[in-house]
Amino acid sequence: MKMIHESNHPLTKHKLTMLRKISTKPKKFRELVRELALLLCYEATADLATTPITAQTPMGEAHGQELTDTIGLIPILRAGLGMVDGIWEMMPGAEVWHIGLYRNEETLQPVSYYNKLPTNPTVQVCLVLDPMLATGGSAIATIDILKKWGATRIKFVAILAAPEGIAALQAAHPDVPIHVAHIDDHLNEIGYIVPGLGDAGDRLFGTA
Ligand code: PRP
Ligand code: URA
Repeated sequence: MKMIHESNHPLTKHKLTMLRKISTKPKKFRELVRELALLLCYEATADLATTPITAQTPMGEAHGQELTDTIGLIPILRAGLGMVDGIWEMMPGAEVWHIGLYRNEETLQPVSYYNKLPTNPTVQVCLVLDPMLATGGSAIATIDILKKWGATRIKFVAILAAPEGIAALQAAHPDVPIHVAHIDDHLNEIGYIVPGLGDAGDRLFGTA
């Protein structure tokens, strides 16, 4: 099974380029993150299970499909929040479980500060949402938490990834497919993705 999915969609490429621009203000940045999340989620959910059902139309019976997998959206606070709303509109039945982690800017290690998971897993497919996969520490820690919780089918959806983060995440969780808009060049000496887009949380929430 292919585990790294880099989007090749022209809309994704266009919106990502707008997102990267230093001139893009928080309002537009939030819209673009929302739209990119939708596009990436569309690709990441292509293998969800359905069951055949019959729909009664005004003209007769149509043979169709109904989604059977139950979905959990797990945004990593804070920046992952920007990816929830668009996806949730498309899948209103999804449950949203928040995990709070921030990256210690000196050690680059994730620090956990919030976890709102219920005692037992309530969903079949978990989509972990975070715009940035840099060293991979935050993604790995989140997936560790989800697996301890009992989640068995997990996908990671990010807008940008560094090769270093992809390698680390794959080494720690080889069963987790990674969906990204683009794989960038490298991490700089302070753990930022280059060329990247800067600090996703700050640009989303206007806190730079
Ligand atoms: C950013 C980003 C990821 C993490 C990626 O969050 O949203 O969660 O860094 O870096 P990593 O792959 O090296 O762990 P940050 O820690 O800046 O927190 P914030 O979203 O609250 O600003
Ligand atoms: N977190 C961000 O927001 N941006 C990066 O480039 C790396 C981590």
